Amino acid sequence: MNPIQLFDPASSTYTYVLFDEVTREALLIDPVDEQIERDLATLRQYGLKLLWTVETHAHADHITSAGLLAEHTGARTAAPAGCGISTAAVQLGDGDVLEFGSQRIRALHTPGHTAGSMSYVWDAPDGGKHVFTGDTLLINGCGRSDFQSGSAEALYRSLTQVLFALPDETIVWPAHDYQGRTHSSIGAEKRSNARVAGKTLAEFVAIMDELHLPRPRRMDEAVPANLSSGLRHDAGGGALLQSRPAQGYAGDVSPQLAWHWVQTGEAVLVDVRTDAEREWVGFVPGAVPLAWKQWPGMAMNAGFDDGLKSAAAGGKKVVLLCRSGVRSVAAAKRATELGLEAYNILEGFEGDPDEHAQRGRKGGWRFHKLPWRQG
Ligand SMILES: [Fe+2]
Repeated sequence: MNPIQLFDPASSTYTYVLFDEVTREALLIDPVDEQIERDLATLRQYGLKLLWTVETHAHADHITSAGLLAEHTGARTAAPAGCGISTAAVQLGDGDVLEFGSQRIRALHTPGHTAGSMSYVWDAPDGGKHVFTGDTLLINGCGRSDFQSGSAEALYRSLTQVLFALPDETIVWPAHDYQGRTHSSIGAEKRSNARVAGKTLAEFVAIMDELHLPRPRRMDEAVPANLSSGLRHDAGGGALLQSRPAQGYAGDVSPQLAWHWVQTGEAVLVDVRTDAEREWVGFVPGAVPLAWKQWPGMAMNAGFDDGLKSAAAGGKKVVLLCRSGVRSVAAAKRATELGLEAYNILEGFEGDPDEHAQRGRKGGWRFHKLPWRQG
């Protein structure tokens, strides 16, 4: 039993429908916004009730219809936890399972194309094994690793140690194909994938470094939209994606926009909390730690100016993060005096306290489920 495979010619994207033949409950992988009518018609044609929409990653080449499908069908949205898709109801970790009827898919964290990218394994009721590989493994190829927090080293590990560890007969269903091919198998890709078969890590990294691919045409529109499940026009959705001018520095930005800029390489994120706060509360991977004031005594950090200038070397924008968005304003003003294009990240890492003096429930980096780590 194969999944239903649907194709969007504009972006060469495959969308997949999986369902339980008894309960007719269904799951959709990587839906495309322009194809929502087609997808709804497919669900009607097969008599399916959509339970889940799932993303393999935050796409750069098309906008997801997950948010709209959820509104139309009552489906729940799921996305990899490391992708910053804050609107997804379920944030998937490695090994997590989504059920539809007696069927289930299992998430495999396969970073490299993006840091959060996931593949999904489905064992069909007829014994067939399937894996939906997103842009991690393509037919005789793989996704690029040169933006969106991609990493050729991580991609090599995901391909050779995670996906190629699946049984050879597992059918590979990619997120794209540009030559009309529909599927492959793990065995075939292990044997003959031009990018990775028989290649060492160093050879693979060299191949990826030499690609020099153009930026996806719709990237600046698609990635921010996909961080909110494709709901560009919903309440506040548009406001998330633009900076707001401010007095004394370049502007205020949402945590989502700041993260988008970091992923595209436009900006460097500078975390101006103290070392103790970061260790206690959590930190953002890849951020430059540079305290605005420092214990003991919360004196000004004498090395702040120099640290900031070296963080912004190469003319990048600077986005400044603190606990709740107060120190980051002061730091943004100082950065502006130093001649930098500096933005304050609204709400900070933890947001404002709620009525019970609890932080983390009223906005902030963690609240929006952007990537962070403890300790
Ligand atoms: Fe992608």
